[in-house]
Amino acid sequence: MATPHIDAEPGDFAPSVLMPGDPLRATYIAERHLEQAHLVTNVRNANGYTGTYKGLPVSVMASGMGIPSAAIYITELYRFYGVKTIVRVGTAGVFDPSLELRRVVAATECITNSAMPAQIFPTEASSLTPTPELADIASRVASSRGMDLATGKIFTTDIFYEPDPELTARMASDGVLCVEMETAGLYALAAAEGGRALSLLTMSDHLSTGESLSTVDRQTSLDEMIEFALEVVVADSEVIE
Ligand code: HPA
Repeated sequence: MATPHIDAEPGDFAPSVLMPGDPLRATYIAERHLEQAHLVTNVRNANGYTGTYKGLPVSVMASGMGIPSAAIYITELYRFYGVKTIVRVGTAGVFDPSLELRRVVAATECITNSAMPAQIFPTEASSLTPTPELADIASRVASSRGMDLATGKIFTTDIFYEPDPELTARMASDGVLCVEMETAGLYALAAAEGGRALSLLTMSDHLSTGESLSTVDRQTSLDEMIEFALEVVVADSEVIE
């Protein structure tokens, strides 16, 4: 039973999925962070793998860039593959000048310029939030690891090459931490499909100063976030089982 975009059989995906944007990062996560990982789909090179982490079956599936791409995979995973929890592991551009690069943000609230959530939820477009229990689990796992997890409001945009030069300053003064391109779609679809979702984001570029992570720092901080996300998924699995 393949779907139009995922060439896998029912049961090929674990109930818990880590979702990076980049298909090559999905391969990296599978090879470096999971045991016994095997490829379960690669339609259009959107790589999906299933393996185990500390004995727990875990899958990793790329979203591609932007809500329309991510929404296809997210919908098919929740609707046709029995996926219960999707944790996005992505990067974001930083609005808030006091937020250091490498810091991980758990997106506890999300605003967007995308029209998609309002079409999924005509009357409830404003409540773009993660599964509260999953956000609580992330905070708990972070404190047990001594990790300084930031939480707060993020912006999901449909426009990478932003035409408004004032946007960064305005968002920063409104208390919006950072910008990326998929979380609002994930949160809208989790609510619509009855799935669990959380978005974890590593701060990779400062939009006010232009400062960005070196290649080495980018890799190290992503590894830290991936390990953290896997521990969150382990704690979450005790709740969803
Ligand atoms: N804009 C949108 N998405 C992003 C950015 C950005 O600056 N950085 C990482 N993801």
